[in-house]
Amino acid sequence: MDTTGTIFLTPGGSTIAGEVDSLFYFLVYASIAMFGIVLAGLVYFGLRYRRRQTDADTPTSGRAHNLKLELLWSIIPTILVVIVFIWGFRIYIKMHVVPHEAMEVKVTGQKWFWSFDYPQGASTVNELVVPVSKPIKLLMSSKDVIHSFFVPDFRIKMDVLPNRYTITWFEATRTGNFDLFCAEFCGDGHSDMIGKVRVVGEREFSEWLEAGLSGGEGMTPEDFGARLYVSKACNTCHSIDGRSLVGPTFKGAFGTRRVLEDGGEVTIDENYIRESILEPQAKVSAGFQPVMPTYQGLLNSREIDALVVYIKSLK
Ligand code: CUA
Repeated sequence: MDTTGTIFLTPGGSTIAGEVDSLFYFLVYASIAMFGIVLAGLVYFGLRYRRRQTDADTPTSGRAHNLKLELLWSIIPTILVVIVFIWGFRIYIKMHVVPHEAMEVKVTGQKWFWSFDYPQGASTVNELVVPVSKPIKLLMSSKDVIHSFFVPDFRIKMDVLPNRYTITWFEATRTGNFDLFCAEFCGDGHSDMIGKVRVVGEREFSEWLEAGLSGGEGMTPEDFGARLYVSKACNTCHSIDGRSLVGPTFKGAFGTRRVLEDGGEVTIDENYIRESILEPQAKVSAGFQPVMPTYQGLLNSREIDALVVYIKSLK
């Protein structure tokens, strides 16, 4: 299997990748060949028939047509275009017809992270975990603006829209981590809307599912909170080093007074953090946009507890 990649393409990681790549290379090399032929003709005829000083009065040839030549330069490109169309259409159909046995994962895009809901009940943020060599159907929608789900190594990219489902699928051919990007400009945090697809063996997937359904066992609440801070993408908008990103920093926030957008004031305590996670628009800090999405349904109460402990610890 090709895992090295080329100057043009990253190494493929899905069943469709090889076919997409073949078509891509056909287009590239056919274009280079055509370019070479046209350029060579241009140079040759330019030199061969250039106007010389001595024959300034010689009239140019009266020849106006050459049927054979005209047929040739019409038919060859037409054949090429038909080949590319049929080839591309066959791949397009394959990419759009989801195999019946596919496992369905619900994908939600929102400013600025991805969340994934599995049929077994687990959910993740910014990390899609799937078993290798199994078709995965992605049922996708957005909570706000248009995003686009793009995994270069799998050669799949599909827009994710509000108020409507879009569907794509893939079957990973090898285990490993694959980059996931948002490929539609969606605002301030667009460039941070990145995640990964982790492809694991069948057994590891079942184990992960079981662990994912519980989660955080054997960790202190603070460590669990620190992990959630990254895995649930809080870090996209809230720093822990004092910098203001899209949202206020967590550093030294606990216990302080905060001025709100509506002029009111609040003490940052456990209840304020909990409320801000579940109902972010209820009390927005002054100087920040009310853009945080609710984490209702994305975090259970143990996870919220852990995040509260973690935020408290950030002095
Ligand atoms: Cu979401 Cu760009």
